[in-house]
Amino acid sequence: MTQTYQITLLPGDGIGPEIIDVTVKVLKEVGKQCNLTFNFSKALMGGAAIDETGEPLPQQTLETCRNSDAVLLAAIGGYQWDHLPRKQRPETGLLGLRAGLELFANLRPAKIFPQLVDASTLKREIVEGVDIMVVRELTGGVYFGQPKGIFATETGEQRGVNTMAYTDREIDRIAKVAFEIAQKRNKQLCSVDKANVLEVSQLWRDRVTALCSSYPEIELSHLYVDNAAMQLVRAPKQFDTIVTGNLFGDILSDAAAMLTGSIGMLPSASMGDGKPALFEPVHGSAPDIAGEDKANPLAQVLSAAMMLRYGLDEPTAAEKIEQAVFQVLDQGYRTGDIMSEGMTLLGCQQMGDALIEAL
Ligand code: IPM
Ligand code: MG
Repeated sequence: MTQTYQITLLPGDGIGPEIIDVTVKVLKEVGKQCNLTFNFSKALMGGAAIDETGEPLPQQTLETCRNSDAVLLAAIGGYQWDHLPRKQRPETGLLGLRAGLELFANLRPAKIFPQLVDASTLKREIVEGVDIMVVRELTGGVYFGQPKGIFATETGEQRGVNTMAYTDREIDRIAKVAFEIAQKRNKQLCSVDKANVLEVSQLWRDRVTALCSSYPEIELSHLYVDNAAMQLVRAPKQFDTIVTGNLFGDILSDAAAMLTGSIGMLPSASMGDGKPALFEPVHGSAPDIAGEDKANPLAQVLSAAMMLRYGLDEPTAAEKIEQAVFQVLDQGYRTGDIMSEGMTLLGCQQMGDALIEAL
């Protein structure tokens, strides 16, 4: 019997539509091989939605997402929307989607492909074998805390305010996700905070420490975020699973991504307690190369693999995609961002064709 899944596609802006096209082709091929049918529905999000409807996350898009088994997002944003008031910015749509679907746990793996070790800006011996999972809290912290805004003071100055806040419930639920992920990996969890300065971090550290007694196999450590940033580029192999808040996770996951050579290779998953989860590449919309068939579709394709594994519980299909990516890299196929001497430069579409061939 074939299994049918409703998938919402949010191609968004910039290179988004190109990499989504490639990914849909790959999913259809793997679906054929694994007896899976995907019903895709495209919805508007980000700048593309602003141009059509005036808002970055139309209600209808949120509804379509809620009624699907999984959501596959490409990327949002671009220069032409940067001047808009915050409420109408593409980024605000993304935050609304995360909050609207209650996707509090963001999984960002940074695993280096052996074929791409030399694409990293760090030395081979530092990055070879890096395999880190950053678990970032996604619907709380300073991104969402109240009060926020730009206010006039009594002396006529302007004062910009954001609030970094976490409740014990918010900390516990993300910590549990992280402990469970660490359990399936190398059983080392590093919690990152700024408890030497921030009260919110003190509570974070206390709760994570208390929860650890329920996971006796896990070796828990704590780092301040500044030290964690330094350790990530100094000796990244000391890390297995990292758990941290929204802002620190935003910053550290970009740093971790670059260890692997190109942010163009990294997928991510954002999950809540139920369905649907959201899967998207870590990279942005790359407006500078949009429409030129130069984009690397592999992070988007690997996001589809994460969707199959974590969102739809179809590990066999996920593995097929991951193996196909491995194979095209082995064959020496590269997009511009991961190109090195002696390799074959492909465009976005051609990379898609190579993946289909590999499958
Ligand atoms: C990310 C991005 C977003 C974030 C932006 C685009 C709102 O940087 O997903 O890491 O800050 O979370
Ligand atoms: Mg970011």
